[in-house]
Amino acid sequence: MDFINKDVAITGGSTGIGFATAKAFIDAGASVWITGRSAENLHKAAAQSNSPKLKTVVSDTSNLAGIAVLEEAITDSSRKLDVLLLNAGVAVFAPIEQATEADFDAQFNTNVKGYFFTL
Ligand SMILES: NC(=O)c1ccc[n+]([C@@H]2O[C@H](COP(=O)([O-])OP(=O)(O)OC[C@H]3O[C@@H](n4cnc5c(N)ncnc54)[C@H](OP(=O)(O)O)[C@@H]3O)[C@@H](O)[C@H]2O)c1
Repeated sequence: MDFINKDVAITGGSTGIGFATAKAFIDAGASVWITGRSAENLHKAAAQSNSPKLKTVVSDTSNLAGIAVLEEAITDSSRKLDVLLLNAGVAVFAPIEQATEADFDAQFNTNVKGYFFTL
């Protein structure tokens, strides 16, 4: 598919499925913002991609202040998004009797609340 001159944002794009998808969009002609909590992971992704079409934003989707950082970066660029891929996610695996409130909150804040408010 042709994504020339299209703008894409991928939350959680520094590793795994998100980064692979970012590379595919760039290969198809798009400019792509990727986010993550770790600046180090984002730097590694940028170095590996080595494309001026890849832009990185440190943005934690588990809270509204972090989501606002991504919104500001896109607004400041004067571009409009054509594609938003809500991909950032965490999984904490534990037997239910060992699951903690912190584990529950971490997963729901990123995997549920973060998706809703980023959209
Ligand atoms: N791989 C699978 O088999 C599988 C199966 C079912 C569902 N999924 C879902 O598919 C998505 C991608 O999976 P993956 O295997 O590619 O995972 P991954 O390699 O662990 O990548 C997760 C990405 O999300 C970022 N991230 C995590 N929490 C974040 C937060 N609060 N704010 C912003 N970025 C955050 C991570 O960067 P930082 O750590 O730097 O923030 C990373 O870039 C996830 O949502 C995952 O739950 C995966």
